[in-house]
Amino acid sequence: MEFPKLRPRRLRKRKNIRELIRETKLTLDDLIYPIFVRHGENVVEEVSSMPGVYRYSLDRVVDAVKEVRDLGIPAVILFGIPEHKDEVGSDTWKDEGIIQRALRLIKKEVPEMYLITDVCFCEYTTHGHCGVLYEGDVHNDLTLENLKKQAISHARNGADMLAPSGMIDGMVKAIREALDSEGFEQIPIMAYSAKYASAFYGPFREAAESTPAFGDRKSYQMDPANRREALKEVLLDVQEGADIVMVKPALAYLDVIYAIREHTLLPVCAYNVSGEYSMIKAAGRLGWIEEKRVMVETLLSIKRAGADIIITYFAKDIAQMINSGEL
Ligand code: PBG
Repeated sequence: MEFPKLRPRRLRKRKNIRELIRETKLTLDDLIYPIFVRHGENVVEEVSSMPGVYRYSLDRVVDAVKEVRDLGIPAVILFGIPEHKDEVGSDTWKDEGIIQRALRLIKKEVPEMYLITDVCFCEYTTHGHCGVLYEGDVHNDLTLENLKKQAISHARNGADMLAPSGMIDGMVKAIREALDSEGFEQIPIMAYSAKYASAFYGPFREAAESTPAFGDRKSYQMDPANRREALKEVLLDVQEGADIVMVKPALAYLDVIYAIREHTLLPVCAYNVSGEYSMIKAAGRLGWIEEKRVMVETLLSIKRAGADIIITYFAKDIAQMINSGEL
């Protein structure tokens, strides 16, 4: 059969029928909201390149998490900005570290929130790289030793799930073994499996003070030109015991999300990163695009590509739209 008998427009005629046949929907339980916790007191400061995103001191972070909870968002991922950085990022494994204190506080005040921690070093090292430096590069296996300490410390202080983001070989296996040996076998690992060396992280690095002091991250993060390599990374992480795999960034890597969805049975997470957020906010502010519609369309595309979970700075905006019936 063909036109004029076949007319796809029949199913677009009214809102009711369009909604009945809609294939992809954004829901609250797709969302993880990133939160930046910093040293200091009574600080709520907007990240200049990320309008609507703030860095909170410990005494203000609980209210921020309550707001997220009240919107119906089930989980947050925490990033810490410590007062003191050092060569190895030792704040990451101390009980009085910024993340550990935040975990204890939020666990106590907002126990229903699911707390994920970013497990990395770049915000905590003086050089801004994601591990122990040796001859100008991140030393893989020395970094694994510190990752284990950090992971155990996060778990002990109340993290519900760990998300290692350093693209260090063997990181999932090392963290899994460390967690299991300390009795944390129930804590899942969401691995940043396919994380690209991307310019889309620019605004985050301002927010998290994690710009490398020299060089770049190309010796550990992936080349944006590669897709097969992303599958290789994912398959390795699955073997090492990852519970959820992640692609990051999302928007310029929809083909990677799609390919990974086809190749693994694990849930797939996509990180809609800072630069993706800032571009939409900036163009929206200039009046060049309709911000809300572009936001929805972007997140839908990420879900349509195959992501089960989306980490996004838009989570609160989307939740508001869902809750008010606008979406
Ligand atoms: C590493 C980390 C980064 C992001 C999340 N975890 C920065 C980097 O790899 O340079 C970027 C997130 C974003 O851009 O929103 N700790």
